[in-house]
Amino acid sequence: MVVRGQFITFEGGEGVGKSTQVGLLGERLRDAGHEILATREPGGSPGALDIRRLLVEGPVDRWAPLSELFLHNAARHNHVQKTVAPALAAGTWVICDRFADSTMAYQGYAQDVDLETVAQINRWAAGAVWPDLTIVLDLPVADGLARAQARPDSEDRYERMGAVFHERIRAAFLDIAKGAPTRCAVVDAAGAPDQVAEQVWDTVRTRLSI
Ligand code: TMP
Repeated sequence: MVVRGQFITFEGGEGVGKSTQVGLLGERLRDAGHEILATREPGGSPGALDIRRLLVEGPVDRWAPLSELFLHNAARHNHVQKTVAPALAAGTWVICDRFADSTMAYQGYAQDVDLETVAQINRWAAGAVWPDLTIVLDLPVADGLARAQARPDSEDRYERMGAVFHERIRAAFLDIAKGAPTRCAVVDAAGAPDQVAEQVWDTVRTRLSI
């Protein structure tokens, strides 16, 4: 009998170092003998990647918040169906850069879509797939935005939403983590990547009894 893989998500504001930590945790878990799939949202499947482009590029006012809620969850539904659920069912551990908590933070807390509505649509899109562990990387907003803006790419639609918006995002993730302490752990992302990775690894080992 194949044992279902564990589903680990990373969350946090812009430039907190999620993708670096996804990579470093993936290496450690592979060394520990697990099959690992690293993926991200919005994206992680061809259909979701098409939707990603609609969301992360272009003018800030391109979409109303409710439209974004549906677009992110259309991408999520495709990603879960095509990528995440089959991997977990095959016993692969999935590490995902952002998941439903990002929708709660960005479209709910920061863009004022009713939080119950966000929770309901998120659950609908995710189906039976829900994180076993969520690492929230926490960093002062100015530091994160400086890192994010140093990256030369055109995927900066959310980065351009202003400092007040991003302060709301940081507070939102901390509040979400406080409300789900069994699933979520907050890690200080201010140190060097290796130091942060040590804290992440301690958290993963403790929480998932590795
Ligand atoms: P990334 O820069 O981490 O790849 O994510 C793309 C952007 O999409 C990021 O600014 C956060 C935003 N986002 C949402 O607004 N809602 C969501 O549900 C997700 C997954 C991401």
